Amino acid sequence: MDPIVDLDFIDNRTPEQASASCDTKVTEETNTGKSRKLYIESYGCQMNFSDSEIVSSIMFEQGFDTTSDIEQADVVFLNTCSIREKAEQTVRNRLGQINYHKKKKPEMVIGVLGCMAERLKKSLLDEEKIVDLVVGPDAYRDLPNLINEVDGGQKAVNVLLSREETYADISPVRLNSNGVSAFVSIMRGCDNMCSFCVVPFTRGRERSRDAHSIVREVQALVAQNYKEVTLLGQNVDSYKWTSEDGTEQVNFAQLLEMVALINPGLRVRFSTSHPKDITDEVLYTMKKYDNICKYIHLPAQSGNSRVLELMNRTYDREWYINRVDAIRRILGDECGISSDMISGFCTETEEEHQDTLSLMDYVQYDYSYMFFYSERPGTLAARKLEDDIPLEVKKRRLAEIIEKQRETSLARNKRDIGRVHKVLVEGFSKKSNEQLSGRNDQNKVVIFDKKHYKKGDYVNVFVHDCSVGTLFGEAVD
Ligand code: SAH
Ligand code: SF4
Ligand code: F3S
Repeated sequence: MDPIVDLDFIDNRTPEQASASCDTKVTEETNTGKSRKLYIESYGCQMNFSDSEIVSSIMFEQGFDTTSDIEQADVVFLNTCSIREKAEQTVRNRLGQINYHKKKKPEMVIGVLGCMAERLKKSLLDEEKIVDLVVGPDAYRDLPNLINEVDGGQKAVNVLLSREETYADISPVRLNSNGVSAFVSIMRGCDNMCSFCVVPFTRGRERSRDAHSIVREVQALVAQNYKEVTLLGQNVDSYKWTSEDGTEQVNFAQLLEMVALINPGLRVRFSTSHPKDITDEVLYTMKKYDNICKYIHLPAQSGNSRVLELMNRTYDREWYINRVDAIRRILGDECGISSDMISGFCTETEEEHQDTLSLMDYVQYDYSYMFFYSERPGTLAARKLEDDIPLEVKKRRLAEIIEKQRETSLARNKRDIGRVHKVLVEGFSKKSNEQLSGRNDQNKVVIFDKKHYKKGDYVNVFVHDCSVGTLFGEAVD
């Protein structure tokens, strides 16, 4: 069987790297003697994982500890993703499995949170009978009331989107954290209208979080010994916060500087950069501070200007290349660059697909997230364009994109051989407790023998080997 047939999301990276993107996460135990237990599973992007930490914090105040064992749970939440059809199907399949637990424990409350809740709203209650609670991404403060309604025997829904909500004052309960690296949301929503994308509909209007609340959250993380933060937003470069009295304005480059200055031992990362908005000011700020990692996730989506226009990305191939050239000019060839690519968007020709491959040759991405186009109801593309590329063609083009990326990743990784890299240790490698795993500045996973080093240490590692997704080396004292 064609190995790609069943996948709509493929990347060429190790599980360690992939954990920063699309996958599933389950809550860990918190045992503080609360009377009820919450189990959360999170799907989709890092923003969703970050939201689950906010949800846990709100539920903690409401008398819930978290559990990693669904059988122990009084309340089960699935924090869901709608980005592609497959993401929603995964959640529906999971609800089917959860039905089995609910039959054994009928009082178990089942809630659907996040983007699928927002997209399907009340109809989710009719479609999936076991669901008691449907809560959109801007309505989590209402969870205590909604849980009360469900406790009173009703079904409950709140999918109101907000223009202001940033949960700025809520301290997230860190879930699945390695204690070294944390994610901090700096904004919510998205005001771009990429024609393929459901996010503006599920997450609402873009709004930026109070810069000082971001700094306070990062300071608290430093006090707890965290060594790395990733600032999160769908389009971080359009971050713009104005104080209530209008006297203070902070843009993304300035926020980056404020966070970098908190502690020189704290690594600062960010995601996602939008090619239309990334400024030279951001690149110079990255250059100025050693602790801002030299790595940029700059999703291109396509290498062809006509397709980019249909996608409503508001940049063309030349603009994108100009931004990559600026990165290389200001930050040098060492700066890591990654991308997202979509194959088989509406009307894409074979030549236009070749333009994506040639862009990949030009940029030399360190890695990419690669997808075939999945039409999402309600989006501009679904309303205006025909999803006319046959599935086999989308998958064949995707396979070519993946192959190109594998070659490029390997070539980029080979360049790292023979050099010493500063690695922040995140834990043991997946394969052995005698080896440690961490990431270098460019976000690449590096594996090496543990010697006397431990999680949270910065270690200089001489890299002597690599695979497509990983660097292998040896600590040098
Ligand atoms: N805000 C980010 C993207 C968030 S969604 C940005 O603008 O780059 C993550 C990725 O999912 C997108 O970059 C895109 O490559 C992919 N994606 C989004 N909608 C999709 C769809 N309908 N079909 C296939 N892939 C999609
Ligand atoms: Fe979606 Fe485009 Fe917004 Fe990214 S920038 S979340 S792809 S609409
Ligand atoms: Fe993220 Fe999926 Fe929503 S990618 S913003 S959880 S649709």
